[in-house]
Amino acid sequence: MTTTTSIPVKRTSQSRLSTVDFSNLGFGNYISDHMLVAKYDNGTWQEPQIIPYGDLLMSPAMLSLHYGQAVFEGMKAFHMTDGAINIFRVERHHKRLNKSLARMCMPAISEDLFVNSLEAIVKADEAWIPKDNGSSLYLRPVVFASEAKLGVKVSDQYLFVILTSPVGPYFSKPVRLKVELEYVRAAEGGTGFAKCAGNYGGAFYPTQQAREQGFDQVIWTDAKEHKYIDESGAMNIMFLLNNKLVTPALSSSILDGVTRNTLITLAKDMGVTVEERKVSVDEIEKGLQNKTLTEAFGAGTAAVVSPIATINIQGTDYHLPDIKEDSFQLRVKNKLNEIRSGTAPDTYNWNHIIR
Ligand code: COI
Repeated sequence: MTTTTSIPVKRTSQSRLSTVDFSNLGFGNYISDHMLVAKYDNGTWQEPQIIPYGDLLMSPAMLSLHYGQAVFEGMKAFHMTDGAINIFRVERHHKRLNKSLARMCMPAISEDLFVNSLEAIVKADEAWIPKDNGSSLYLRPVVFASEAKLGVKVSDQYLFVILTSPVGPYFSKPVRLKVELEYVRAAEGGTGFAKCAGNYGGAFYPTQQAREQGFDQVIWTDAKEHKYIDESGAMNIMFLLNNKLVTPALSSSILDGVTRNTLITLAKDMGVTVEERKVSVDEIEKGLQNKTLTEAFGAGTAAVVSPIATINIQGTDYHLPDIKEDSFQLRVKNKLNEIRSGTAPDTYNWNHIIR
């Protein structure tokens, strides 16, 4: 249960909204007019405020730059068919943020602060929420250490900022992924389950190499043996194998994706058997060879449900069949969209309707 407090808003005198090409948004290219900022100091979060989006004054000695205390979330707000505004799965994102913060020795954010802040920033930039199907206002809460000190220590000061960005689909077409058998994203016991900035920075180099080889992303495998599939960095990964939805079980090296959880729940409702378990590269290769693996897709807030066209395993490209109208991934994506837009019942209370 949250309580509503009013957050002061200092509006921009020069909106950039007219510069946005809503017919060609891409992902992350535009940042809306305003941002929310709250400071943590003296052991407590101070009152947030909404100000025009712009640079903040920060010290180059701030601890997040040097020792990596920075975590974020990725969420979405939508227009529903009746005109209401919906922020999807607020509660689950809040829980995951606090798990990430705890892993990085950073202070928790209360549900009140989180929910009130999201509601206020989405309302402030309501005009930036795209209307087209498949587009949304991406919400990026980020928390980072702001104390200026070179000593290797847990910061005593932090900033909590929420940026928002009108976005279209993350990938413009089905993706080509390479199973990564050399580099590692995360090891058991590490920070892979947390949405901390370093997980993404460390993934750039292998991903860059894969891009040069013609792939969109890599599929990360376990750090010990490169034998089992973890996730794909910007998304969790799911397979339709022998007509069952198969996905790697959560572990300390896999992000507990909110979309992953949503799709698993919907698949069960649709009568599809779901297996969350260890998924070996060998099993996937065999399934691709004998065609028992009929679909593969990424699941994430940004990626939503992203079809995988090709999986490369040790130099061999395996192509997946084209998506058809009755493909599971299309049916489950439609179900998700129906719930988010309010045309299907929100049985699990996933919608957070703010107006
Ligand atoms: C998301 O899906 O929200 C993510 O954070 C993944 C990526 C865009 C960084």
